[in-house]
Order: sequence, then structure tokens, then C-alpha cells
Amino acid sequence: ATIQWYPGHMNKAKNQIQEHLKLVDAVLEIRDARLPLSSANPVLDQLIQSKKRIIILNKQDLADSSQTKKWQEYLHQQQIMSLAIDAQHTNHLQIIVQALEKLMAAKLQKFRRSGVKNYTIRAMCIGIPNVGKSTILNKLAGKNVAVTGNRPGVTKNQNWIKTKSQIELLDTPGVLWPKIDDQTVGLKLALSGAIKDSLVSAMDLAIFALEYWQHYYSPQLQAAYHLNNTDVTLSSDKLLIKLTQQFGFKDDYERTALKIIQDVRKGVLGRYTLDMVNEIE
Ligand code: G4P
Repeated sequence: ATIQWYPGHMNKAKNQIQEHLKLVDAVLEIRDARLPLSSANPVLDQLIQSKKRIIILNKQDLADSSQTKKWQEYLHQQQIMSLAIDAQHTNHLQIIVQALEKLMAAKLQKFRRSGVKNYTIRAMCIGIPNVGKSTILNKLAGKNVAVTGNRPGVTKNQNWIKTKSQIELLDTPGVLWPKIDDQTVGLKLALSGAIKDSLVSAMDLAIFALEYWQHYYSPQLQAAYHLNNTDVTLSSDKLLIKLTQQFGFKDDYERTALKIIQDVRKGVLGRYTLDMVNEIE
């Protein structure tokens, strides 16, 4: 089954974000560090145009750190500022404010030089559902702010989160839909929990995960499920059958599939990145 967004919703979200973009100087584009490419939406590039941007690779605690490093190098080459963070387990996200200060240094300097007082630099968070936008905003606000649900677009009433410096952040994030232009992107988003499980079959998802781990993270797969070198070279369906026996699930392959998916998400299969930097064409 394909995953679709209705054009009407897309346009509404786009327009709402566009309205809010008029209020800000810079954009914090939040992505999932495990999916530096698949959790982005190219529409954002059109929307923000010449606005300054920082790409935040959030959930770095779950991602393969060597890949995160490579992604940051790649973004740096593209002259895009990026930050890798773990918003959930970090209490102080001052690093984001500092990065914004650096990004907006020229403008801040101009204000200071010309003697303007009470100036502010404003920014907003934008990203697809579940990348951690609310977590980041709540931590920056130091309290629970009213953050929108995971509906594309943004709400009407905005408040500004004040920081210790001249930076202010819109307390409601812009929610973009993920761009699912092929089945693999859909599977990656589903595996990371970014889109609803019901959109993809558990079996397809587990087979995809096994294939991916057999290819990229075979030692982690072996360690997690006590497999030998030959096991990990089996075809993914054969491996799923073997695991079903091993788990004592009789011939309940669906149960095995669900366990594999849960294990991936819980980190039983180690830290992982689902978009490899060397795969960018
Ligand atoms: P959103 O506003 O972009 O939709 O995302 P939100 O902040 O609600 O975060 C989605 C889930 O991701 C939350 O889990 C949150 O705790 C988790 N999360 C956010 N930042 C990080 C991070 O840096 N590392 C890790 N490991 N998790 C992070 P949740 O509400 O418990 O949902 P779930 O556990 O059911 O997915």
C-alpha cells in the first residue's frame, strides 16, 4: 500500500508555514539523525528560500555516530550549519541558541553597532512529525509550552520563547509531511517510528530491517540474536524463519516480525542510521 497525503492538507500546511516564516529571521530544521535525508522535506527548501537555516540532527543517541559525523561533514561542505543533539536526555539546549547567534552574527553585530536597543532575532522550528520538535521547544522554554499536535501546518496563536540572549523562538513548530517518494523511504520512516505502523505491513518492515542489518550492521545483528556467520548470510526470509524457531514462536512469523521491529526501535540491534551518506547521488 502506498502512503498518501491529500494535496489539500499539503497546501494548507505550506501556506500556514509560509505565513509564519514571515515572522522569523531563521529556521531550525529538525531532522531525525537516523534519517538525515528521509526525514527532510524538499518543499522546505522552496519555502525558506534565502532565510538562514540550521539543520538539527536530533535523536543522535539512537543514530550511528560515525554516520552522523559524516553527515555533518557533508552538510558543512554544502555550507549548511548543522548540530547533532539528543534533546530527550539533554537538559540545556543552549547549544542551539549559541548556534543561532553564530548564524545571525552579522545581523546582531549590525544592531549593536547602530545602537539599536531591544532588538530580537526570531527563529522557528520546522520538521516532519516525531523528529522531536516539541521536546526541543519545551526544553528551550524551560517549561511545557502549548505545542501543536502532529498535524501539518502551525496553529494561529503564537508566543515567543525568550532565551538569555537576543534570540526568540516561536513556540509552535511548523509541521511538514514526510516526502515518501518511494517504498524504501516509507519503510525507513516506519521503522524509525516517524509514520504510523498501520501504513506498512509488519512483515515487510521486518524483512527490510533484516536485509538492512545483514548489509550494514551484521555484527550487531549477530550479537543481538546469537547468530553465526552463516546465519547472517541467509536470505532475509530464511533468517526470519530461523529466528521464529529460535524465539520459540512456532510458526508465528508475524510475532517474530513485530519483535524485530520493537528490537530495532528499542536499540536492541544497536545504534543505526538508515540513510547512509555515501548513498547520496
Ligand atoms: P515532534 O514534536 O517533532 O512530533 O516530536 P516530539 O518532541 O513529540 O518527540 C517524539 C518522540 O521522540 C518522543 O517520544 C520524544 O521523547 C522522543 N525524542 C525526542 N527527542 C529525542 C532524542 O533526542 N532522543 C531520543 N531517543 N528520543 C527523542 P515519546 O513521546 O515517548 O513518543 P514515543 O516514545 O511513543 O515515540
